[in-house]
Amino acid sequence: MCGIVGYIGYNDSKEILLKGLEKLEYRGYDSAGIAVINNEGVHVFKEKGRIVDLRAAVDTNVEASTGIGHTRWATHGVPSKTNSHPHQSASGRFTLVHNGVIENYDLLKREYLQNVSMKSETDTEIIVQLVELFANDGLSTEEAFRKTLTLLHGSYALALIDNQDQETIYVAKNKSPLLVGLGFGFNVVASDAMAMLQVTDKYVELMDKEMVIVKKDEVTIQNLDGEVINREPYTAELDASDIEKGTYPHYMLKEIDEQPAVMRKIIQNYQDQNGELKIDANIVSAMNDADRIYIVAAGTSYHSGLVGKQFIEEMAQIPVEVHISSEFGYNMPLLSKKPLFIFLSQSGETADSRQVLVQVKEMGHKSLTITNVPGSTLSREADYTLLLHAGPEIAVASTKAYTAQLAVLAILAEVTGKSRGLELSFSLIQELGIVANAMDVLCDSKEEFEAIAREYLATTRNCFFIGRGIDYYVGLEGALKLKEISYIQAEGFAGGELKHGTIALIEDGTPIIALATQGFVNLSIRGNVKEVVARGANPCIISMEGLNMDEDRFVIPEVHQTLTPLISVVPMQLISYYAALHRDCDVDKPRNLAKSVTVE
Ligand code: F6R
Repeated sequence: MCGIVGYIGYNDSKEILLKGLEKLEYRGYDSAGIAVINNEGVHVFKEKGRIVDLRAAVDTNVEASTGIGHTRWATHGVPSKTNSHPHQSASGRFTLVHNGVIENYDLLKREYLQNVSMKSETDTEIIVQLVELFANDGLSTEEAFRKTLTLLHGSYALALIDNQDQETIYVAKNKSPLLVGLGFGFNVVASDAMAMLQVTDKYVELMDKEMVIVKKDEVTIQNLDGEVINREPYTAELDASDIEKGTYPHYMLKEIDEQPAVMRKIIQNYQDQNGELKIDANIVSAMNDADRIYIVAAGTSYHSGLVGKQFIEEMAQIPVEVHISSEFGYNMPLLSKKPLFIFLSQSGETADSRQVLVQVKEMGHKSLTITNVPGSTLSREADYTLLLHAGPEIAVASTKAYTAQLAVLAILAEVTGKSRGLELSFSLIQELGIVANAMDVLCDSKEEFEAIAREYLATTRNCFFIGRGIDYYVGLEGALKLKEISYIQAEGFAGGELKHGTIALIEDGTPIIALATQGFVNLSIRGNVKEVVARGANPCIISMEGLNMDEDRFVIPEVHQTLTPLISVVPMQLISYYAALHRDCDVDKPRNLAKSVTVE
């Protein structure tokens, strides 16, 4: 959450910073700011709201070739112009942007800054005030910055400028993501390579507790003892067109539509020369060595983990537990003797998941991260990584990463099962191809989902999703999609569970979206629909060819019963999308949310 950028070079930095922030807006969008420095000093522009509001507030006459910027997702202090970054020290000498949370900020304030009056309610401000305090004691900026870093507990990605030096940006990182990008005659700083792809595709990763002195033609990485660290840059393999909306009105719609292509790309990337599915042998042997697998994830990724459990238990016959990462760290279950941990994370940066990874590593357990972002924190820190190959996902609501996670989990399950002598009764590779085709059909049926959204969800207060077996898990995801972008109160339930309490909420017209894609529970789920219809509910049954009945509102193309979540989720995504449109919601940037949740 929160995104930071920095530029130091020969060109005017304002537009580069603003464009970078636009690309980082997915990380937080309640306020934003930039600070640029020239011979006249530091110029700070900030605004509550989106980057477009900030852009309007920036004085275009100010020219400066060094600057830093920030887009905020509030943690300490309400979204406001005062609390937005950059923050400045008491004299205005130092200016800072920060992504993360300083846990001991109150303590530091009491211990060191009693005589400094704070301008904002943020934890960030104490950092910049500390730098000034130590600089006033006679330390150089570099020394004052380093000394400050040694006092901080928590997470941070920081960029600092000093109005007495236009030639340097001071940068540091702990737990929050941060990269330094390299150019000819300029260098940049960004939370995500996407932000600065406009000027460079060469990046250097930073590790926790490192600081960097960034000049226009030199980048020096150091540890907190001041020892210089040499690290080779890498090329970010991102296609600039992947991060543009193109002709789509929203990223979410584009990303939903990309799902068939993502399926095909995954099949391609996980196939050997003989056309067989393949997974790195070390990962397969780690799966085989495990007596139990623990999937740890948050939100949509947690929902894909629930489906992944079914896949692994069915295809590889290894017991699996699925846990919410924010709970697991504090409430760890009794672990088996030889656990393997799988971290599912689109971004690879989710702090709650990372906290668990750190813990299980300390306990000496093996870990695998399944992520969309190569080089992300969870990927770097786990023993193994499997990539989703879904391309950048920019809309806050996750869509193609969910289906990509399911496909990769299915491949992992199948390949592991095969290595254990288990043969499937179907060809997974072929069935995934059928899934991709079925997704195409669904993406071509948008008017029908738009009509469903209009009919059932345009004005409702709440909505329930029900399903049995694997459909229940898709219902959970459907409810999450709907609530996060349309703000309709939505919940997913196992079909048989409503009557144990929640049925009390059913009123005349309450929409119930029921999934019926599983032959063995087809009649039971329809029985559950009858129970709610008898109490006035307005049912929308989404079934699958071969199981469909007259009462069904939409019938999805037939795919193998094990793989139905890969396609039954597409109607959930599209219905949610259109419901949000009907209700005039900001689809790509729903209120209160951020794409990458890097605070615990
Ligand atoms: C919902 C959504 C979130 C994320 C969750 C975990 O649409 O995107 O629920 O799934 O914040 O994020 P990752 O997968 O990046 O760890």
